[in-house]
Amino acid sequence: MTQAIGIDIGGTGIKGGLVDLERGELISERVKRATPEGGEPDDIVQVVVGILAELADAGDRAAVGVCFPAVVRNGRTMSAANVSKKWIGLAAEQLFERSLGHDITFVNDADAAGYAESEYGAAKDVDGLVIMTTLGTGIGSALIYRNLLVPNAELGHIDIGEHTDYETHASNLVRERKELSWKHWASRLQPYYATLEKLFSPDLFVVGGGVSKHADEFLPLLELDTPIVPAALRNNAGILGAAALAAHGSGQRVTRGAEQLVRETTPTPPSGS
Ligand code: BGC
Repeated sequence: MTQAIGIDIGGTGIKGGLVDLERGELISERVKRATPEGGEPDDIVQVVVGILAELADAGDRAAVGVCFPAVVRNGRTMSAANVSKKWIGLAAEQLFERSLGHDITFVNDADAAGYAESEYGAAKDVDGLVIMTTLGTGIGSALIYRNLLVPNAELGHIDIGEHTDYETHASNLVRERKELSWKHWASRLQPYYATLEKLFSPDLFVVGGGVSKHADEFLPLLELDTPIVPAALRNNAGILGAAALAAHGSGQRVTRGAEQLVRETTPTPPSGS
């Protein structure tokens, strides 16, 4: 399969496009709508139905990947930081599939972005551990070890010093709302990346989200031992990753990836136990 549709649901905007999976590029226009106020399930589903209808002409029989800003386990959304709390525990994949009349692959948004960067972008062929972070309405994160995605890392919500749930202190939305200078924002990002560095010893940080196009303004202000680079795919990483995961048989690949890791790292119990 050489084409698939990716739809990236965020706390502020919902974007979609048809993707050339060989080149990792959008080959349709990028359709974008505002996320409905309150982020209620039915309202978001209706927007996604509209976006898919617009894209369907372009990619009639393509696989569809949808990514969402929450923990996604077995098709259920298990958290809701920047959308309605009604998503918590909801069988969201099934809800989308019924409304769209189409099977989908359904994953976390930062996981999709991280997967795209490891397939096509800044983390391609990086040996070792890559931490992708998306700085947007919230802070999303993805862990990719030797191209294997470990799903549902939620590193945007860690506590640092007196700041609980760090995304509420350092996301790009906070920068915009509080009109922080780049220098001031970087002083909030510094302890964040330093903490991740201490906890994970990654080989590379990739920084995504719309603000990554201004990376020159804030990344050089950070003092870290780990290289830190902007997402090569900019704000399209979620769309590209959702599409790629859909085509690569992904829900499976993501889940199987995690199971495989567990199998490889869990000692075999002694016989007789
Ligand atoms: C959510 C994550 C999501 C991130 C970026 C966070 O608030 O908990 O699941 O990846 O925002 O959208």
